[in-house]
Parts: sequence; C-alpha cells; structure tokens
Amino acid sequence: MAILVLGGTGFIGPRLIRKLVERGNEVVCMDINPGAAEFSHLGEAVRVIRGDVTQFEDIVHAISVAEPDRIINLAYLLGGGEINPHLNMRLNILGMDNCFEAARLLGINRVVYASSIAVSGQQSHFGDRLVDEDDGMFGTSQYATHKTFNEFQARMYIQNYGLSITGIRPANVTGPDKVRGSTDHVQCITLPARGERVSFPYKEMMRLPIHVEDIAEVFARVLLVDSSHYPVYNSGGHAISLGDLAAMVREFLPDADIGFDHEGGKEQSGNYLVDNSRLLDEFELTYAPFRQRVLEIINDVRADEGLPLVSG
Ligand SMILES: NC(=O)c1ccc[n+]([C@@H]2O[C@H](COP(=O)([O-])OP(=O)(O)OC[C@H]3O[C@@H](n4cnc5c(N)ncnc54)[C@H](O)[C@@H]3O)[C@@H](O)[C@H]2O)c1
Repeated sequence: MAILVLGGTGFIGPRLIRKLVERGNEVVCMDINPGAAEFSHLGEAVRVIRGDVTQFEDIVHAISVAEPDRIINLAYLLGGGEINPHLNMRLNILGMDNCFEAARLLGINRVVYASSIAVSGQQSHFGDRLVDEDDGMFGTSQYATHKTFNEFQARMYIQNYGLSITGIRPANVTGPDKVRGSTDHVQCITLPARGERVSFPYKEMMRLPIHVEDIAEVFARVLLVDSSHYPVYNSGGHAISLGDLAAMVREFLPDADIGFDHEGGKEQSGNYLVDNSRLLDEFELTYAPFRQRVLEIINDVRADEGLPLVSG
C-alpha cells in the first residue's frame, strides 16, 4: 500500500513510518523540515519531500508523487502556547482543511489525523470518573480548541462527502527525544537518566503518559484499515502523578534528584481518567507495561550519553 505521511519527521512520525514500512508499505513523507529525521535504514520504501501543509499545492504535489491509498496528517504546532494565532490557525486549521480537501478532490478516501486528549480540558469538569469520546469537550487553549475544530472539520468531510476519516486523541506521549508539547513527565525520566537534577511545581499533578512506540502502533493500525467503527478514539495511557513517576524512576536510579515545590496539584490536572476501551477492543491493542517503558527511556537516554545502562 502507498501512504502519504504529512508532518512525518517529528516525534511520532518516524516511528509510525518505520512500522508502516516493516509491514510492507511504501511511504512518502512530506514535512516542512524534511531533514529532521533519518530514514536511510529503511531503504527505498521511504521518500521524504519538503512541503508545507498550509500550501494546498504542496499537498496536491505530494499526492501526485505518492499516489497514496492512505493519508495521515501529523503536521501541527506543538508547544506554541497562546502566541501567534495567525500561524496557529494556518497550520492547525487551514492545514487540516487542505489535507481533507486535497484527499477529496484527488479521490483518496482514507485519511487519519491526530486530535488530542487536550480537547477534554481539565479532569475537574468530569469529577473522579473515566471520560469517553462522547463526553463534552472543555479544552480552552488555542491548541485544544483547534483540535476540537479539527474533529468538526472531519465530521463535515465524512457527512458531506463520505470520506473515511478517523481521529486519534493521543494522551501525553512520552519518549526519550520528546521536546515539544507536554514535557514535564518526560523530563522527570530523561534528566535523572543523565544524572541531572529536575524539579516541578506540583507533586500530585496527574499525567496520562503513553509511550511513543505505542501511539505509533495505534496510528499504524487505524491507518491500515479501510474504515473504523467510530470517527474518533481516545488513546488512553497510564494515569500517574509526577510524584509517583519520580518514585518509579528512583526504583531504577536510586540517586535521582527530583524535587517538588508543592505537594498538591491534582485538582489542576488535565484529563487523566480516560476510557480507551473503544480503541483497544476494535484494534486489538495492548500497551507495554508503563514501568517497562520508563526503564526503556532511561536506558535509551543513557546509551546516547555513553552512561552505563541500568537493569530492572
Ligand atoms: N506528542 C504528543 O504528546 C501529542 C499528544 C497529543 C496529540 N499529538 C498530536 O500528534 C501529532 C504529531 O505530534 P508530534 O509529537 O510528532 O509533533 P512534532 O511537533 O514532533 O511533529 C510535527 C511535525 O509537523 C511538521 N510541520 C510543522 N509545520 C508544518 C507545515 N506547515 N507543513 C508540514 N509539516 C509541518 C514539523 O516539522 C514536525 O516534523 C500532532 O498533531 C500533535 O498535536 C501529539
């Protein structure tokens, strides 16, 4: 199968592309920063081209190069906060529209895109219960409202044109090389792995990490089916406070220097109780145990730094 990955040289894209190629697919990756990832180990199955999702012609060009059976859009502005609304709007909203419209015009029926857990907003909106895909969306940040609108855009293309479009709401994706988006739960592992001190404002702040290899597997499975039962799915993850994550890191690195300014923070946490049964059941997914993933991240970082690996 031929697959076009938009925004594929970032954090999640290269892992997804590797998984797609391992299953015998051919990938064209279009990214505004094409040199940010290395694909030479995957041979001729991957072509990387430079292109900007805010430019409709760039997506049309990429489709003409790839002749894809599937398109996935991962291109987005992460970690931009509330600044630069024009750039955010063009990349997040117009970019998504360009993707859907080009797919429609050029007859590519299957499209997958990344929404986010951010659409749900604070856990306090729901109380102490799991949140599913039918619950209300209370996210108020620029990022969250754009993801919410992306889900609306997808619904319009599904309803009006019959496209097979599926959105995934990843939770807090973690991995050794994550630098954009939510990074406190990442730095709680990676900085101690390097022997560096790290501190956070709140010990009870909750997160819902999912390892980048697990979310890449989610995207791969959802992309490779012709259609999904639902238009959008929660990835879910492993609900954990930063304090408990620090304790887990100390099981592997007893000298880890992780500090907290305050005890609380739970009540200020984003959505961390998530029902992902829809996704896990339909796509027969299980995630690796989170403790094992923490150890993997520690050792990925230590291998990069030339430090001795730690054992479980
Ligand atoms: N990483 C997370 O924790 C997380 C959580 C929830 C949702 N998501 C979503 O998953 C998707 C991928 O996330 P990621 O962590 O790989 O992000 P990333 O920032 O690492 O990757 C995004 C890629 O998009 C590219 N890009 C930016 N502007 C572009 C443009 N105009 N044209 C073409 N490409 C452009 C970037 O160069 C980058 O390679 C995003 O939509 C993100 O919002 C990520």
